[in-house]
Amino acid sequence: MTARLIKNGTVVTAADTYAADVLIKEGIIAKIGLDLTDEADEIIDASGKYVFPGGIDPHTHLEMPFGGTVTADDFATGTRAAAFGGTTTIVDFCLTTKGKPLSESIKTWHNKANGKAVIDYGFHLMIGEINDEVLAELPAIVKEEGITSLKVFMAYKNVFQADDGTLFRTLLAAKELGAMVMVHAENGDVIDFLIQKALAEGNTDPIYHALTRPSIIEGEATGRAAKLAELAGARLYVVHVTCAEAVQQIAEARNKGVDIWGETCPQYLVLDQSYLEKPDFEGAKYVWSPPLREAFHQEVLWNALKSGQLQTLGSDHCSFNFDGQKDLGLGDFSKIPNGGPVIEDRFSLFYSEGVNKGRITLHQFVDIVSTRNAKLFGLFPRKGTIAVGSDADIVIFDPLAGRTLSAKTHHMNVDYNPFEGMQVTGEPISVLSRGEFVIQDRQFVGAMGAGRYLKRAPYAAAHAAASVSKEEIKR
Ligand code: URP
Ligand code: ZN
Ligand code: ZN
Repeated sequence: MTARLIKNGTVVTAADTYAADVLIKEGIIAKIGLDLTDEADEIIDASGKYVFPGGIDPHTHLEMPFGGTVTADDFATGTRAAAFGGTTTIVDFCLTTKGKPLSESIKTWHNKANGKAVIDYGFHLMIGEINDEVLAELPAIVKEEGITSLKVFMAYKNVFQADDGTLFRTLLAAKELGAMVMVHAENGDVIDFLIQKALAEGNTDPIYHALTRPSIIEGEATGRAAKLAELAGARLYVVHVTCAEAVQQIAEARNKGVDIWGETCPQYLVLDQSYLEKPDFEGAKYVWSPPLREAFHQEVLWNALKSGQLQTLGSDHCSFNFDGQKDLGLGDFSKIPNGGPVIEDRFSLFYSEGVNKGRITLHQFVDIVSTRNAKLFGLFPRKGTIAVGSDADIVIFDPLAGRTLSAKTHHMNVDYNPFEGMQVTGEPISVLSRGEFVIQDRQFVGAMGAGRYLKRAPYAAAHAAASVSKEEIKR
């Protein structure tokens, strides 16, 4: 039995900041207190450092086929980079194919992750259609497989997009099972029309990616999903919120008592639409969906995080190399693979831009980057906090260490960094996953395959209210 004692640090959770030592036994936090003298195999000095719960990234795409290619990071490189950045748990999106059993897709995703991940991981499951077969599979997926979040795309026409009927029936099914529905909220039909129009007019540069996906239709889709969730009485989580219109819809629904939650991502907090205008096709590096917005939206997003209208931060890590992948869209912006590398920088960037710049408090930082995600995704209190009995997923963080974000020094398997040259202050020095070092004094010491699959819990409220019958969902 390995025991480790973290001494002299400042423990920070979503609720408290206090000086304490932390004793870890068999991967679990065994004791927290002042001046602990318990025997340990290893003493870790955390003087002058914060002792944070490990980051939980609720939104990643590793080894994912998309846009005619496959993301550059797999579960080995992606989770290693995540650990360098202070993240100890990810929840990745398992894609499904219409007409194929969901269980087959889940098996495929297990095969991608098993033996490769260096930190713990769970899966969300994409729902592209609802039929008798899907409805028959879902109870075991939620209750036995522990996949308690289902993802519906309202965009990517002819690829992932599902219609409103599918979204509504997914909400009904999820409510019955205690699962949460996640939506990519953009109006895919309108976007498709705008893309065809732009291309027909000879507008092929990366900036047209943003111009054909205006914020008003992210707001429209967010409001539509919120109303369907209200009607179904189901829990809804809106991924990658980018704009004032979407925040307004979420805030209005929350004010009415709808069980709706919103996530944003670092790229929308610090980058803006002008990056898509970079010359020599470099704008392609900044192609995300939804797109980067005009700069004034950033303040709206920060304020929404501060006020609790948005609650979480995901990386939406979906990395493609500039050379050989992003350039598939040379001459046609609609063929640029959507997404970017963010898994490693999510934690430090958010700390530096958020806490250091006074936009959020230290406790809000921990809540948004870790604790709230554990709660919403059925992992709390095993993950997401520093408490006796919780997994010893811990980040020893130097709030004064500064560095420059760069592709030259990052650990993601990709040839550019969208935050190239940005200075951050505050850096994970050592990172433990279930009590074992993954990063020690900035060096990777983890093991491929050490990460475990996490079966997640359904949310408690789901079983309370009377729900629409299975027969009604099937219709
Ligand atoms: O551009 C993005 N966001 N790529 C990843 C897929 C998605 O929509 O989340
Ligand atoms: Zn999306
Ligand atoms: Zn995504």
